[in-house]
Amino acid sequence: MINYDELRAKYQRLGIETPTFDMIKSEKDIEGIRKAGIVNNMVLDEVEKHIKAGMSTEEINTIVHNKTIELGGIPAPLNFEGYPKSVCTSINDAVCHGIPSKKDILKNGDIVNVDCTTIVDGYYADASRMFLIGECSEEAKRLVKTTKEALDLAVSNLKPYSRLRDIGYWIEKYVKSKGYSVVHEIGGHGVGNDFHEDPFIYHYGKKGTGMVLFPGMVFTIEPMVNQYGRGVFLDASNEWTVYTDDGGLSAQYEYTVLITEDGVEILAS
Ligand code: MF3
Ligand code: CO
Ligand code: CO
Repeated sequence: MINYDELRAKYQRLGIETPTFDMIKSEKDIEGIRKAGIVNNMVLDEVEKHIKAGMSTEEINTIVHNKTIELGGIPAPLNFEGYPKSVCTSINDAVCHGIPSKKDILKNGDIVNVDCTTIVDGYYADASRMFLIGECSEEAKRLVKTTKEALDLAVSNLKPYSRLRDIGYWIEKYVKSKGYSVVHEIGGHGVGNDFHEDPFIYHYGKKGTGMVLFPGMVFTIEPMVNQYGRGVFLDASNEWTVYTDDGGLSAQYEYTVLITEDGVEILAS
């Protein structure tokens, strides 16, 4: 058993920020979030099975909504701070928080992010995947691949007692090496007992800085990677959807991860 008081004292003596008590999940919490993660993965699998050109994003919403309910979960986005749908669907230059609509029909060559968050027995898991619709350009495929690789790289470098800003350091360094840019305004977040908890997870930053990450922490990593500049704007007509400001493509993958005593467990992906 980890003695968190001793750990905190040790890092505080070194002048390093430590997680607050509510950032450390109990075994019971972790078991609950794990279950929510399994359901969330199954919902994304269902989307993967059916998504295709000609389908509206409203149909994706229906698949997500019905599958989540069938599996005993609740889609967390629905009515979250007034959000009107059960999932986010972000196409091409939409960075995140695209709202499903009958009017948005997936077409050959589109790249689309589907972001699902599921509540099971009060516990939350949050993950998103990219889908390539039909034949996509080499550039679109490379952007999507780079985004997944950046996230996987961050996870593979992550260890208990890593520093929070290392995550973003690894992500941005890799993304820049491929000629792309990382969105700074939106980040990952603690998750599990609520949709968005502390800490904020930056996808950029300076190595060896930020809070020390203790076993028992659960959070998302969800880099948004732009084809050109990192600038974004909020759609004024719905106050949700974020777009690239130069019209370039944007890709995102999101995992919910748990810091364990000897590594990292991906709870939803
Ligand atoms: N799932 C998103 C995230 O990764 C949040 C969406 S909020 C919603 O944090 F209301 F738009 F669903
Ligand atoms: Co999230
Ligand atoms: Co999400």
